[in-house]
Amino acid sequence: MPVNANVTPTATFTAASTPPRVLVLGQQMPYLVDALRRQCDVTLLAQQPQPEAYLAAHGATFDAVVTSAFVGLDPAVLQALTRVQMVSNFGVGVDGIDLRETARRGIVVGYTPDVLNACVADLAWGLLIDTARRLSEADRFVRAGQWLGARFPLATRVSGKRLGIVGLGRIGREVARRASGFDMQIRYTNRRALADWPAEAFEPDLLALARWADFLMVVTPGGAETRHLISREVMRALGPDGLLVNVARGSVVDEQALVAALQAGELGGAGLDVFDDEPHVPAALMDLPRVVLLPHIASGTHETRQAMADLTVANLLAHFSGQAVVSPPAG
Ligand code: 8YV
Repeated sequence: MPVNANVTPTATFTAASTPPRVLVLGQQMPYLVDALRRQCDVTLLAQQPQPEAYLAAHGATFDAVVTSAFVGLDPAVLQALTRVQMVSNFGVGVDGIDLRETARRGIVVGYTPDVLNACVADLAWGLLIDTARRLSEADRFVRAGQWLGARFPLATRVSGKRLGIVGLGRIGREVARRASGFDMQIRYTNRRALADWPAEAFEPDLLALARWADFLMVVTPGGAETRHLISREVMRALGPDGLLVNVARGSVVDEQALVAALQAGELGGAGLDVFDDEPHVPAALMDLPRVVLLPHIASGTHETRQAMADLTVANLLAHFSGQAVVSPPAG
């Protein structure tokens, strides 16, 4: 089944009235911009020579804004968009959007859950295997000609280990499903136990989960509630042979504590797709072995990004066709 089987981005909007004026923030994929241009009056803020001055002069003329998880929605930008009715987010993470403010102003929000679950879970597994088996490091070893003079060091077995999942939501479930092929025991922590999971797999105490696990996989949403959830204490509990994988948000892991824990040998290694201040990655992390660093690519496949773009457009067009958005964030 195609991942975007339920999404028909161009089907519902009737262009009888004036097309909505849409402001696109950041650098978005051409496929998304082209799809928007087919039905909307689109302006790319990043192409304005003086974006701030442009916003001050024209912010009040836009009906909708399109952004992404990476770009977010700066409160000052939102403030300048005085007439905006709709925010369509290309991404499942809405931690970069002040949802209280959008609700206060009656602005409708759409985002792109589910269509990226499989690719994010695939990448999480890739990152776990890479970190444990040292694939990236081994690749660098071969390219540097080091194999000619030495043997590559041994790595950590993946199959049969204990996997702790922090946040068993839609993506976490996909991560868990993939673990069955690796004969793993799984436990998870969550706000509440899931009715369709065995009670004994639920571990409400994150520290206990980290103590139990060989690998800790972070797939919880970002935002104030989860900021620095993965503390030095959690890292110590995971231990010198333990591996941490983060495909959620950089903010969930205390990055300074991570550097310190890795340098002190309190944690075995880390596979990271997300960072606190993207695209800036702490130099100290680059110097450490047993660390795999990716440029926030978990959803980055042609198929998934296209499905996300289709849903971003479908949400926007649904709103301007007088319908409910296809996927509004909960709460
Ligand atoms: C996005 C993401 O691909 O969906 C999210 O929340 O973080 C990624 O899937 C990326 O942020 C696009 O900007």
